[in-house]
Amino acid sequence: MKRILTGIQSTNQPHLGNILGAIDPMIQLSQALEMEAFAFIADLHALTTVKDGSERRHKVRQVAATWIACGFDVEKNRLYCQSDIPEITELTWYLNCFTPFPMLANAHSFKDKSNRLSDVNAGLFTYPVLMAADILGYDAHLVPVGKDQLQHLEMTRDIAASINHTYGDILVVPEARVAEDTMLIPGTDGQKMSKSYGNFIDVFLPEKELKKVLMSVVTDSTPLEDPKDAESCIVYQLFKLLAPASAALEMRNKLQAGGYGYGHAKNELLGIVLEHFGPARMKYHALMENTEDIESILAAGAERTRPILHETLSRVRRALGFSIS
Ligand code: ADP
Ligand code: TRP
Repeated sequence: MKRILTGIQSTNQPHLGNILGAIDPMIQLSQALEMEAFAFIADLHALTTVKDGSERRHKVRQVAATWIACGFDVEKNRLYCQSDIPEITELTWYLNCFTPFPMLANAHSFKDKSNRLSDVNAGLFTYPVLMAADILGYDAHLVPVGKDQLQHLEMTRDIAASINHTYGDILVVPEARVAEDTMLIPGTDGQKMSKSYGNFIDVFLPEKELKKVLMSVVTDSTPLEDPKDAESCIVYQLFKLLAPASAALEMRNKLQAGGYGYGHAKNELLGIVLEHFGPARMKYHALMENTEDIESILAAGAERTRPILHETLSRVRRALGFSIS
C-alpha cells in the first residue's frame, strides 16, 4: 500500500492556521485515500531552535494532543515522535553525503537567516537533509505540506533521484501535495497566521482567554450602523472557514446591511470556534492533564514504525557497501 506522510515541528502549540492548513487536510486524506498515513512530530528539527529539553517535550505533547484531538486515528495510522526512532540520524548522514553544498546554501530556511551566519548552526543548515530522511526513510509516496515547504520537497526528490541514479531504484521519489483552498489562514492582524508574527489563534485556550484573542482581531473603523465590506473583514474570513455556508452567508448579509457591528461578529466567531472545536477542546485538555496516555501512544507509534526505517536503512547500507547488522 502507498504511504502518505507529514511532519510538524514541536516548536509551538499548533494554531488555527496549522490545524486548518496542515492537520485537518492530512486527516481528511488519511480517511479518503487507500494509503497508510504517517504523522510525526519533528523534535530533532525543533532542536535547531528550541534548546530546552523539557520545553521541547512539552511541545511534543501539545502537538501530539492536537493531532489526536482533531481526530487522527492513531490505531489505524501512525503517530510518532521523530527522536523516538533515532536511527533517522544515520540515514541523514548517508543522505548528507549525496547533498551538494549549493543546494543547501540555496534553501530558504537557511537563506532567510544567512545575513547573520553566526546565528546559523549546522543543524539548521542541513535541516532539509533530515527532512529528506524523514520522507525517504519511510518510503512515503505523498507528502502534504505548506507552500513554504515545497522547496524542501524538491530537494528530497533530487537527493533520492541522485542516489537512485547511482545505485538503482532503492528509494521512493515522493510527490508533494499542497492544499490550495486553505493555504492562507489570516491571523488576528490580517497577515498570514504564524507563530512568528504573534498573530495566531490557539483554539485550545480557556474560553476567557480565547475571547480576548478573538476580540483583538483587527477591524476597520466603520460605525456600527453603516454597511461593511464582508470580504475584507478578517472576522468574517475566519468565521467562514468554520461555519456552515448558510451561517456564513447570514453574517455576510448582516455586515453588508449595516446595523451589525464588528463586536457582534466577533462574538459569533467565538461561538463558532467553541462549537467547531468543542469535542476537540475536551479531548485535548483530557490528554494534556494525563500525559501518560500521550506518551504511550507515541511510544507505540514509534515501535510500529521503526521496522520500516530499518528496512530502508538495510537497503541503503547494502547499496553503499556497509555491513548489515
Ligand atoms: P508557523 O508559520 O506558525 O511557523 P509552520 O511553518 O510551523 O507555522 O507550519 C506548519 C504547517 O502549518 C505547515 O504545513 C504550514 O503550511 C501550515 N500553516 C502554518 N500557518 C498557516 C496558515 N496561516 N495558513 C495555512 N496553513 C498554515
Ligand atoms: N519542515 C517542516 C515544517 O517546518 C516539518 C517537517 C519535518 C516535515 N520533516 C518533514 C514535513 C517531513 C513533511 C515531511 O513545516
